[in-house]
Amino acid sequence: MASLYLHCTAPPSSKLRPSPQPLLSKPSPFISHARRSHRHPLRASSQSDSDSSKGRLDRRNVLLGLGGLYGATNLISPGSASANPVQAPELDKCGAATNLNNQQILDVNCCPPVTGDIIDYKLPTFYKLRTRQSAHRLNPTDVFKYNLAIQRMKELPEDDPRSFMQQAFIHCAYCNGAYNQPGQGDLDIQVHNSWLFFPFHRWYLYFYERILGKLIDDPTFALPFWNWDNPKGMTIPPIFLDPKAAIYDAKRNPDNLKAVVDLGRTGSKDPMQLVTNNLTVMYTEMVRGNADVYDFMGQPYREGTPVNPGPGSSERGSHTSLHIFVGDPREPSGEDMGNFYSAGRDPLFYCHHANVDRMWTLWKDVLPKDKVPTKDITDPDYLNASFLFYDENAQLVRVYVRDCLDTRKMGYDLQRIDLPWLDYRPPIQTALARIKRTTSFFPKVFSVFPLNLTKVVRFEVQKAKKGKADELLVLEDITVDTTKFLKFDVFVNDEDDNPLELDKAAYAGTYAQVPHKAPKKTSTTSIRLRLTDLYEDMDIGDDDSIVVTIVPRHSGPGVTIGGIKIIENPNKA
Ligand code: C2O
Repeated sequence: MASLYLHCTAPPSSKLRPSPQPLLSKPSPFISHARRSHRHPLRASSQSDSDSSKGRLDRRNVLLGLGGLYGATNLISPGSASANPVQAPELDKCGAATNLNNQQILDVNCCPPVTGDIIDYKLPTFYKLRTRQSAHRLNPTDVFKYNLAIQRMKELPEDDPRSFMQQAFIHCAYCNGAYNQPGQGDLDIQVHNSWLFFPFHRWYLYFYERILGKLIDDPTFALPFWNWDNPKGMTIPPIFLDPKAAIYDAKRNPDNLKAVVDLGRTGSKDPMQLVTNNLTVMYTEMVRGNADVYDFMGQPYREGTPVNPGPGSSERGSHTSLHIFVGDPREPSGEDMGNFYSAGRDPLFYCHHANVDRMWTLWKDVLPKDKVPTKDITDPDYLNASFLFYDENAQLVRVYVRDCLDTRKMGYDLQRIDLPWLDYRPPIQTALARIKRTTSFFPKVFSVFPLNLTKVVRFEVQKAKKGKADELLVLEDITVDTTKFLKFDVFVNDEDDNPLELDKAAYAGTYAQVPHKAPKKTSTTSIRLRLTDLYEDMDIGDDDSIVVTIVPRHSGPGVTIGGIKIIENPNKA
């Protein structure tokens, strides 16, 4: 078996040396003397664990107390609310992880060291907020500090839970089936494709950032974010391209090192068109396409329920596209960033996710309040879901979703950068964009579904209501092969067979996934795309039906769609 750490050590060419500056030159005691606990092996939370049973009791009280309100929430919240939150894994039961592309057991052990007791994490006090900045604008001192911190992380002993590879393994363990849900048989824990996506990754980056800061004795160290939502940030940040830098990774798509990102994965080669497409994708997944908080955050995922209930618009959109954009097609499974098990081995992954995390903050703070009824999930099964991480002192801690909802309480803030996608509503396209059609021209929904999606399909769907309606397009029972990269786009009244231009009113949204493990190798979900603005933009409010085009962006089979319908937005009075 190949050494686990073959790929993880810093490239020998990495010439970073401690800075002559006093701040950085002082070797941290943290580096050479990782605090190892020799206490008895971990006994993680189990059903009988007093902590966790207390948590359950509290939750029931909450439910009893909020009976009516909770029931009301449930009206707009898919899934049953009678379960429990997904519990943090039992680290001592961590098992083998699976390569998602071929379902073979991975030749790496993703499991973290099991070193001591778990404590419930309390957000520490701080004197100064860390400010996460755009990686494209980082000044040389900050670039130097970033590289130095990563270099030191790579130099930590391999079994130190804060080491570079152990940090990467966190992603592998939580995403590639190494953990089962405690007390739930062999039901996996999966932190993607559900409402756990944003909170898990926020906590993950939080500790990663604190570890890096500690390694350079800088409590204000902040991860940069890859500002791919702004034209100035729509290439891989150049600081990641220096082969001598600690933040370099050789396993990236050589064709995309300097290319404009393709958030829509349209395949367009025209840089100007790509920028326009990207802004349209951002506008659609952040502003136009969502009717409620779950459309953005992802679907409810509770204890004892199957993995992958459904990703939110940002996760399945820009987030997924960038994983695939960076991953190296010369590698067997798109390593590093193109596959969950290896994604954390590329420092760019954390920079990418710092921007994904930023999207959550922007969605909550910046977006117009009238778009969705609420931007907060108040369901206790969400708020009380928990994860385990090692903190910057190598202490194993349990964290809860409820404690990561406010980045400023967590000690970090974001550099303010303009958001050119915020008002990127496509120009009104009236007669020109409308298909001159007779209703008999396109097949009706019932004759097309269920659909095995292997090529572009176009069909007619009846609207729920005539006139100015607030409506959603619902794609039901999307069953996907979880081992593949899959993506399809949805257009309304569009004539193109392979639309390379998304900056038109016709683009309704997308479904996409990074390969991942699920017990059955397939998973089923549904998505909703809001049509309201499209109706206006295309002046089709008075039509009885629309023509929907589904364009696969991957090749080959892997997706079936059970049905499609248009419903009135249930959130509007
Ligand atoms: Cu946990 Cu972007 O993946």
